[in-house]
Amino acid sequence: MTYGVRVPQETADPTAADPFSAARLGSLRLRNHLVKAATFEGMAAGNLVTDRLVSFHRAVAAGGVGMTTLAYLAVSPDGQGAPNEIVLRPEAVPGLRRLAEAVHAEGAAVSGQIGHAGPVGAVRGRPSLAPSRQFAPAAMRFTRAVTEDDIARITADFARGALVLAEAGFDAVELHFGHSYLVSAFLSPALNHRQDRWGGSIVNRAAFARQVAGAVRSAVGGSMAVLAKLNMADGFRGGLWIDESVEVAKLLEADGHLDALVLSGGSSLRNPMYLFRGDAPVEEMARAFPPPVRAVFRVVGHRLFPTYPFEEAYFLPLARQFRRALSMPLVLLGGVNRLDTVGRAMGEGFELVAMARALLREPGLVRRWRDGDRAESLCIHCNKCVPTIYRGTHCVLVAPGDRPGHGPTD
Ligand SMILES: Cc1cc2nc3c(=O)[nH]c(=O)nc-3n(C[C@H](O)[C@H](O)[C@H](O)COP(=O)(O)O)c2cc1C
Ligand code: SF4
Repeated sequence: MTYGVRVPQETADPTAADPFSAARLGSLRLRNHLVKAATFEGMAAGNLVTDRLVSFHRAVAAGGVGMTTLAYLAVSPDGQGAPNEIVLRPEAVPGLRRLAEAVHAEGAAVSGQIGHAGPVGAVRGRPSLAPSRQFAPAAMRFTRAVTEDDIARITADFARGALVLAEAGFDAVELHFGHSYLVSAFLSPALNHRQDRWGGSIVNRAAFARQVAGAVRSAVGGSMAVLAKLNMADGFRGGLWIDESVEVAKLLEADGHLDALVLSGGSSLRNPMYLFRGDAPVEEMARAFPPPVRAVFRVVGHRLFPTYPFEEAYFLPLARQFRRALSMPLVLLGGVNRLDTVGRAMGEGFELVAMARALLREPGLVRRWRDGDRAESLCIHCNKCVPTIYRGTHCVLVAPGDRPGHGPTD
């Protein structure tokens, strides 16, 4: 078993260009360089791990990845972004431990993506939090600007949340600093209009992210790898762009609390298709809403979701700017469907490559590649899996009985 094995830095091989060679993430050794990226599973009834969730990740681990990522775990009840999310608290430990053991039994490591949804949150009955007051479409109400006390409390919640994962035997924790979730919203000039020490210059806007990373590292020490998923670009007018996001990354690197950055982009709030590329599943999204909203959504959906053509490794041109500016380990993400892309990314200095949809379509993709069938993933970027987060995330092209985490009738 290579997961969870702590190795001295000098004995690991950071230069291996073979995707199936062992990889290093901080002091953690992975069996290969391929990671299942976060895809919120929508299977945590009661905000706890369920059998479906365990089987989902067991299947991905058995499919050959070096590490799978459980997503998304809210650090507090007000940090939830959608129904059926795990809320990190002591009662969650036994289920999380069961999931970690199931993944380990298949030879993979397990990471958990933790965060506070901030303005993306749609928790009913209370306004969601944001750096500044603004209208939150998901909640159909205005957000509340966080106070100094909120910032201190949420920072401590991140640290406590990471400790819950550590106690459950997780190998890594991924801090969600992207997609307009709370920390990402602080980084964004379009969403952060504060005039105190948390707003204004990019150093001020990055202060919350740096504080969270530091608190999590102090809490877990060297017991876990700590990653952060960071937006390179928000993908909407006036949002965070690469000139500033590279500066944020340099500050995080200088602080030394993180083992790797996962490079992402886009906004679950304002421009989700920038994240995904490919087709906008407007009709399927409409069906997820109650009838009156559904009708309106059918009319305005295409305007709300401008589409971007899918290209293999679509974030690579932006990610290269980070590779050039930083020396810390980086994870390439976004539209990776081919094994030769993985090799090319590693050749360009990306330590790990993460895939989301390719592994929803084929949880056994890595094993297939390793066994010699190197054909590209069967994912066609239709994005019809995205609205399935409300009923158990799955690829619509996989037959019900073959879906990880689903029974034959789901
Ligand atoms: C159904 C679905 C759910 C997702 N949920 C999350 C999530 O909870 N957290 C997150 O950071 N990204 C989430 N993503 C985005 C993916 O992690 C990834 O960034 C994006 O899909 C691009 O990678 P890909 O081209 O390999 O799919 C989700 C993607 C999909 C398709
Ligand atoms: S529904 Fe399936 S084929 Fe379509 S984007 Fe999602 S994983 Fe790919």
